[in-house]
Amino acid sequence: MDDKIVLTGIKPTGMPHIGNYIGALKPLIDLSQNHKTFMFIADLHALNAMHDAKEIKQHTYEEAALVIAAGMNMENTILFRQSDINEIYQLTEFLMNVTPKGLMNRAHSYKALVEKNTESNIDVDSGVNMGLYTYPILMAADILLYNSDIVPVGKDQKQHVEFARDIAGYFNNIYGETFKLPEPIIGEEIGLIPGLDGRKMSKSYDNTIPLFAPSNELKKKIMRIITDSKTPEEPKNPDESTIFLLYKQFASESETEEFRQMFLKGGMGYGTAKTMLFEKIDSALSKQRAEYDRLMANPNEIEEILQRGAEQARRIANRTIAKVKKKMLGL
Ligand code: TRP
Repeated sequence: MDDKIVLTGIKPTGMPHIGNYIGALKPLIDLSQNHKTFMFIADLHALNAMHDAKEIKQHTYEEAALVIAAGMNMENTILFRQSDINEIYQLTEFLMNVTPKGLMNRAHSYKALVEKNTESNIDVDSGVNMGLYTYPILMAADILLYNSDIVPVGKDQKQHVEFARDIAGYFNNIYGETFKLPEPIIGEEIGLIPGLDGRKMSKSYDNTIPLFAPSNELKKKIMRIITDSKTPEEPKNPDESTIFLLYKQFASESETEEFRQMFLKGGMGYGTAKTMLFEKIDSALSKQRAEYDRLMANPNEIEEILQRGAEQARRIANRTIAKVKKKMLGL
């Protein structure tokens, strides 16, 4: 067991797809095998854009069920809902007072909106609420509240983890050594995970394969993968084929090699290749999917797990707040 503390948050935005699983979730599952891991559903972070409480709650259960079913090591993982820990609101308020406004002005997501507004000749802050503007402070509070060492995130979140480091530094400068400086780890690009149309799999291209789609839906999606018009007899380049690139993410090395040879030799049509891909993914995910479905049919069980996690998280959060109150207010 490595003694570094891993922490990450997942926004409750809906069922992830196979690309998210391979790129983000699998590496986390690996880290959780030998690290103490804090993992929470960041429902407060969803608030700046999502205003439907029911939807946030439902997606929170989906993300939690996903984490449990996908195979996180739950012995080492404290899984909880961000908003259940009152200390998060406290630390956010405290950190507001050491965070320069200029730092927030530099945040990529805020800047992107300002630029868009400028181009459209409307007020620069149009559509910007304070939840969006101070998003990085809440995220710094998440990271610092639980003494995290390592924060695995996607590339788009790297700046936020750097901000958390900066904010920890500002605090330590004023009040003396208090917070550890967290390190981001950025999911290595596992190579492009192509979607149905061959472009990167992404919700914004509407080309995704949902992770836990029922078998028949999975099959339908896979049959829709776009291919070129080579005949079954013709040899094909596996490394240019969406079918092959997805297959190798789920198959063993020897299976992958066999599939590669079938492409290169010719004689296998795309229909057959798609059926093989479907069978591979369907069987690789079947146990996890069944556990996901079982949990989603038992939201009380998910809620209990989240509450147990919250109790554990609160114990650590308490101590951090006590330290900060003492330093900032003398209490
Ligand atoms: N902002 C992250 C995202 O949109 C989610 C998140 C919230 C997070 N708090 C965090 C990630 C703390 C890592 C650490 O994906």
